[in-house]
Amino acid sequence: NVETKVDSVLNLMTLEEKVGQMVQYNGSWDLTGPASEVGNKEKEDRLKKGLVGSMLNVLSIEATEKAQRLNMENSRMKIPLMFGYDVIHGYKTIFPVPLGETASWDLEAAKESARIAALESVAEGVNWTFSPMIDISRDARWGRIMEGSGEDTYLTSKIAVAKIKGYQGEDLSDAKTIAATAKHFAGYGLAEAGRDYNAVHIGKNELHNAVLPPFKAAADAGVATFMNSFNTIDGIPATGSERLQREILKGAWDWQGFVVSDWGSISEMIPHGFARDKVHAAEIAAKAGSDMDMEGGAYEAGLEQLVEEGKIDESIIDEAVRRILRVKFKMGLFDDPYRYMDAELAASVPFEDHKNTARDIAKKSIVLLKNENDLLPIKSSVKKIAVIGPLADDKDTPIGNWRAQGETNSAVSVLEGLKNADLDAEITYSKGVTLGEGERSFLMPLKINETDRSGIPDAVAKAKEADLVVMALGEDAFQSGEGRSQANIGLAGLQLELLKEIREVNKNIVLVLINGRPLEITWSSENIPAIVEAWQLGSESGNAIADVLTGKYNPSGKLPVSFPRAVGQEPLYYNRMNTGRPSNDLHVTYSHYTDIENGPLFPFGFGLSYTTFDYGDVELSSKELQAGEGITLSVPLTNSGDIKGKEVVQLYIHDLVASVARPIKELKGFELVELAPGETKNVEFTIDEKMLEFFNASDKWEAEEGEFELMVGGNSEDLKTIKFNYVK
Ligand code: IFM
Repeated sequence: NVETKVDSVLNLMTLEEKVGQMVQYNGSWDLTGPASEVGNKEKEDRLKKGLVGSMLNVLSIEATEKAQRLNMENSRMKIPLMFGYDVIHGYKTIFPVPLGETASWDLEAAKESARIAALESVAEGVNWTFSPMIDISRDARWGRIMEGSGEDTYLTSKIAVAKIKGYQGEDLSDAKTIAATAKHFAGYGLAEAGRDYNAVHIGKNELHNAVLPPFKAAADAGVATFMNSFNTIDGIPATGSERLQREILKGAWDWQGFVVSDWGSISEMIPHGFARDKVHAAEIAAKAGSDMDMEGGAYEAGLEQLVEEGKIDESIIDEAVRRILRVKFKMGLFDDPYRYMDAELAASVPFEDHKNTARDIAKKSIVLLKNENDLLPIKSSVKKIAVIGPLADDKDTPIGNWRAQGETNSAVSVLEGLKNADLDAEITYSKGVTLGEGERSFLMPLKINETDRSGIPDAVAKAKEADLVVMALGEDAFQSGEGRSQANIGLAGLQLELLKEIREVNKNIVLVLINGRPLEITWSSENIPAIVEAWQLGSESGNAIADVLTGKYNPSGKLPVSFPRAVGQEPLYYNRMNTGRPSNDLHVTYSHYTDIENGPLFPFGFGLSYTTFDYGDVELSSKELQAGEGITLSVPLTNSGDIKGKEVVQLYIHDLVASVARPIKELKGFELVELAPGETKNVEFTIDEKMLEFFNASDKWEAEEGEFELMVGGNSEDLKTIKFNYVK
């Protein structure tokens, strides 16, 4: 049994060796933050003494094996290392950025891309990913919105579980699986003003009802590790929060894995004004339940001394090490420390198959936002297509940020995808304008081109001659991601100017958006007939986009985030609270903006298809739900168009009166339904009290008696409503 094995190792360890297990080092310098003061030579010495628990960013079988050997062949205790890496949306084969993949609402797809990422990771010795990121994010200014599943708690929870199952499989010791990380615990996605690393101000209600449920789902799904977050919540750094890590995660949820800090987040409690120095930071973090220090230098600086001085009880160190050893045992590392360094397995990775899956998932992630007069799919009468824009032949941006080992310039561009599609039409291309200037880098902000208009005349000339213009605009790969918060979220640089000039000569425009965050596209939505949200779709981006533009695939994606009319609406999310003054047409004293509408430009859950779906009358098996029972909601869904299509049927619930005011609606179920033309299917959802539970005024997860609204439909605004009573 694992626990006995863990104890048998722990009992033999010195304090120094135990602290060593709680230290994680980076394999290279300055990768995702300031490096600690520990030099490479010192790292090597510590490895040999068995004073390192894990390394991150060590890639390739040779490199991981070298580090493992230094540790295994020289150290006294011979405790294998884990090798972590940010495998966020694929390792070599790149899938859509997580926000984009979530738009597929396809849990099998989310699981499959994680399984593939895991296999490609172990082929390079990596056995631990810092993914999935399951931070609820409601602010498009935050650059890391691309890395999560958007604004909804229920959808994020479902994706979290699918991802964890994909990475970890059924058995963590299977050498084709890797350990997953639920991050960032907690609240990181709600940074004030969308500025990365910023303070988070949320109360109990928001924390328990909106932020924590995906983490609870991840813990229940057996995720091996958690990563805490950089931010403070209500003044307490998450890394130093006993409430979050000890009381909730390890206490109430009884989760058995270990918590790794974010990069240097233990030492960052010093500038937060929460710790005096590294030793003090180590004391706070260890007591709070942060088990491993990622490249922060605090634990090796302070923990031994703190125990010797009696400031920390050794049982705290033992508890952390027990958790780390438990994961290592479960991964099978004690049986074979080199099991994830299998050259034969590496040689057998079916990269070609992975490409096909990447294309399949990418096409399912595309969201059709507008399609006036059925401009799409491209008609056979179209004989000349002008493909225009800075992202039209960009083979790198679709790889996105957090690209792991996705090669630079390795994606299929929109232009290439359309050429591959073998249309009976001539295809011309013009870049029009460039988006960025100079070298791009993972660590520096992108310099946007605001002045060079020299390519516009050529683009206008090509557009003039064409029957249809496909414009690829949006964001550079490095405009979103960590540290890439923006105060403006429109089409950056000269893109809108280019679009307006093209429209002067040709109105048949399909705007293909390639981006990692919701963009403010109000002018485009009013003036451009067709808009396709294509995110950063990964390796097969252009082929997937062509599949949708040509009608080979009927789009089925739905937005996992609200798209704003103006950046001033952010944070913007559908599952908001009501106000005491929700509406009043007569004068200004109600909750609104005086210059624009309150609502989003495109709501959460929205997405069109080339066919149409009609929702019939909603019925309930009973208007009363008794505690412990279930009632059935059914709604007939008809494909009223003339091609096959897939609809994401969404179920929302509103608790009308409760001990804590509840959001105006919350997603509680969804189903992907594929229908042939003319076909009708009765879609059913079982409503039970679990769906009605929330963290209430008595600090309990409970369903409270009273009246509820059920809403069902194809997006969060266009819904059919029916009411019922819940009685205990
Ligand atoms: O996993 C990441 C985290 O999300 C942000 N800081 C750095 C970590 C390791 O690269």
